[in-house]
Amino acid sequence: MGKTDQVIAIEEKFGAHNYHPLPVVLAKGKGVHVWDVDGKKYFDFLSAYSAVNQGHCHPKIINALTDQAQTLTLTSRAFYNDVLGEYEAYVTDSFGFDKVLPMNTGAEAVETALKICRKWAYEVKGIAENQAIIIVCDGNFHGRTTTIVSFSNDPDATANFGPYTPGFVKIPYNDTAALKEALEMPNVAGFLVEPIQGEAGVYTPHDSYMRDAKALCNAKNVLFIADEVQTGVARTGSLLAVCGDCNCQQACERQETTYARPDLLILGKALSGGVYPVSAVLADNAVMNVIKPGQHGSTFGGNPIAAKVAIAALEVVKDENLIQNARILGARFRKGMQEIIDRSDLIVKVRGKGLLNAIIINDEPDSSTAWNLCIALKENGLLAKPTHGNIIRFAPPLVITEEELDDCLAIIDKTVSEYKK
Ligand SMILES: Cc1ncc(COP(=O)(O)O)c(C=O)c1O
Repeated sequence: MGKTDQVIAIEEKFGAHNYHPLPVVLAKGKGVHVWDVDGKKYFDFLSAYSAVNQGHCHPKIINALTDQAQTLTLTSRAFYNDVLGEYEAYVTDSFGFDKVLPMNTGAEAVETALKICRKWAYEVKGIAENQAIIIVCDGNFHGRTTTIVSFSNDPDATANFGPYTPGFVKIPYNDTAALKEALEMPNVAGFLVEPIQGEAGVYTPHDSYMRDAKALCNAKNVLFIADEVQTGVARTGSLLAVCGDCNCQQACERQETTYARPDLLILGKALSGGVYPVSAVLADNAVMNVIKPGQHGSTFGGNPIAAKVAIAALEVVKDENLIQNARILGARFRKGMQEIIDRSDLIVKVRGKGLLNAIIINDEPDSSTAWNLCIALKENGLLAKPTHGNIIRFAPPLVITEEELDDCLAIIDKTVSEYKK
């Protein structure tokens, strides 16, 4: 048995079967590349679901990690540490909010935002106890906790995990009329939305959806909650996807005509460059101050390593112009992909923004074509993963160069043209 098969067999035997990975065993990563246990090199076109935006093992982030790991790792929040405040000041300034609540994973940050929203609804908006409603969207993906799966439409996420948490109402995504109508319900506290639905297949709404949603929420004194765990931190060609079609250069300017400012902003994944579990909820004082000591927290949230890693990860985004790179190379990718599509019967569409894109295959959502095509891409040196039987997401690290992107388009072109259904 080869090394790959051995590793897979061990996982199969001793690990819970809660994922269905592509049969490749990775042993090393650097920038846009990963290597398997036999030394074969691949382009990473998933970036750990958009966590590794800054590229694998970025030296600046790794240095921040190892320096802090040798100094102080965890104090809990029972005591102050000399790094958290520095991070809080840095991250709130970077994203333009008064305060941050630090957590670890994306799902925890979503839970945090939901809790803050409910508390705000009762203590500030004046909704009667236990009556708060949060509007969510069909096709959402916000994580895997009991409450979050309670408002999922995905049968795999929900089946036999009930009873479900009440207080959520689902409306169609990318439908401002549906949002307007839902906001007429009594007791609405918040609207939780992904600016682009990544897991649903990089479902990209019309340009003004975020701004319209924000305006509708504002008019009804409802919190506009943006889950940017997957879309945030330069992935879509702006610092945040709620920035819209901005033309910011070095730093986020939060341009008036494009920016839909969330009342609660949820970040994770690339906030640490994929080096450490770091997530956050950002808000202004009027919202965040509803949380008092003892009402929310996490042993690891805001630990010194996470704080230093996140500062370094955000500095890399600025220092290396990752926002502009994602914007420019994203357009190049979609143009190149469209040329492949024009020559192919297999792929019907490319969609996305910045370097968060997906291709739609000419087959059924429950077919195995996307999986088989990902296996063929793997053989040709590019790793990607289906979101559905007929959709493949393409999300390389944002440090990718024009030449590397063109090499990847050539791999996709070759694979698609050689593929036999
Ligand atoms: C939009 C969105 N929210 C939340 C999450 C959950 O993040 P985590 O897996 O870190 O809990 C994800 C993960 O893919 C996501 O894409």
